[in-house]
Amino acid sequence: MKIIALQGSPRPKGNTQALLEIALEAAAGAGAQVEVVQLSELTDLTGCRECFGCQSNPDEPGCLVEDDMQPLLARILAANVLVLATPVFCWSASWLLKMAVDRLYCMFKFGDGDYRSLLEGRRLAVVITEGNSGSDLITESFRRMAELARCQWLGSLVATGVGAPDDIRGNAETVERARTFGRRLAG
Ligand SMILES: Cc1cc2nc3c(=O)[nH]c(=O)nc-3n(C[C@H](O)[C@H](O)[C@H](O)COP(=O)(O)O)c2cc1C
Repeated sequence: MKIIALQGSPRPKGNTQALLEIALEAAAGAGAQVEVVQLSELTDLTGCRECFGCQSNPDEPGCLVEDDMQPLLARILAANVLVLATPVFCWSASWLLKMAVDRLYCMFKFGDGDYRSLLEGRRLAVVITEGNSGSDLITESFRRMAELARCQWLGSLVATGVGAPDDIRGNAETVERARTFGRRLAG
């Protein structure tokens, strides 16, 4: 099982990374091959330009925006599981994750009444940290995206009320939930 995670916090060593790491360690322990992409480390990432150039090619992503998302699209297609990880920023996903996710539009081919998703059959999961609210909204938006993408929805792993990354590592209940979630990703 190949897992690719897009880590959308601007902090590569923040709360979201701490939670994601615990889950992915458990997934790797259960035999999965794991790759984490720190979106904050990409030097050239932009959002969807809504040019619809991708819709001219039904078999390939075909995105016309030449930036760091291009190699990522191929790696996402090569994976079985896509994990989207983000802090809650103003009741939404982070700007980094939102840019990357909007670029997945090129995986959805609307055709002429014959819609298809290049991501069909893959599995989708979400990892979220928050101060106190908003993770439910992000979970719902990505659950709907999973439907459009024809991916199996694996649900979300959420840590609420986190102060610092060590709060996550030091919370036995959160660690156990993250490990269980990680093993499910690998299953
Ligand atoms: C710009 C910004 C907006 C935020 N908005 C919310 C919010 O709407 N709801 C919430 O519960 N927490 C909010 N937070 C808190 C973060 O979601 C929380 O601290 C998170 O764990 C940070 O993760 P990170 O360290 O991986 O970046 C916000 C933090 C920032 C910096």
